[in-house]
Amino acid sequence: MISVAIDGPSGAGKSTLAKYLAEKYRFIYIDTGAMYRAVGWWALSHGTDPKDEEGVKRLLPEIEMNITHDGAGVQRVSVCGTDVSEKIRTPEVSMAASDVSKIPAVRLKLVELQREIARQQNVVMDGRDIGTYVLPESNVKIFLTASPQERAQRRYQELLEKGVSTTYDEVLQDIIKRDKNDSSRAFAPLKKAEDAVELDTTGLSLQQACAALLETVSQKLGGE
Ligand code: DC
Repeated sequence: MISVAIDGPSGAGKSTLAKYLAEKYRFIYIDTGAMYRAVGWWALSHGTDPKDEEGVKRLLPEIEMNITHDGAGVQRVSVCGTDVSEKIRTPEVSMAASDVSKIPAVRLKLVELQREIARQQNVVMDGRDIGTYVLPESNVKIFLTASPQERAQRRYQELLEKGVSTTYDEVLQDIIKRDKNDSSRAFAPLKKAEDAVELDTTGLSLQQACAALLETVSQKLGGE
């Protein structure tokens, strides 16, 4: 099986670029952030503080997560039969996802699911620890970055389009806080794998970023 790992901080464009790449190569796209969001959402909807490690751990055995793809290749996430794909996109769930992602038991459960999917199909998988921890043998590893201001601007536009009410400053503060949270946790923190290619998309249009990514990936996958 072939896997492409795309890691990087929130709002660097991972999901847009990973989807583009998956479509080009006809691989399936796996958004691992959605899995952490689904656990965060489950905790919030059960009145459990996402920072409460013991409380979240108690909920874990009952979380039955399913990842499917619709006809257009868009990933859907469901927990215990409830499709939560849209519900998990709020700023409140973003922070809850970041909090539950620090809990080793949560990571172990989700990493197992991620590895199982990659064993069965060719994947483009995006997240924070794909190249360093989940799939260290990935055929291609990309570390996507962009300045916090640019990432906040992009995320703000996305949220506005989805009808979520927020401000640019709120989104920027949220991104800075999540960057810190995600990079400083003890277990599988966000960091560039030694053999990853870094792609900084600050100032690049979507087309330029897609072209740069495709060039890197096609060079690496050339012989496969
Ligand atoms: O990519 P995202 O914003 O949807 O991710 C939500 C949170 O999940 C993010 O704050 C960090 C965490 N996450 C993680 O720890 N490891 C991953 N592989 C993916 C996401």
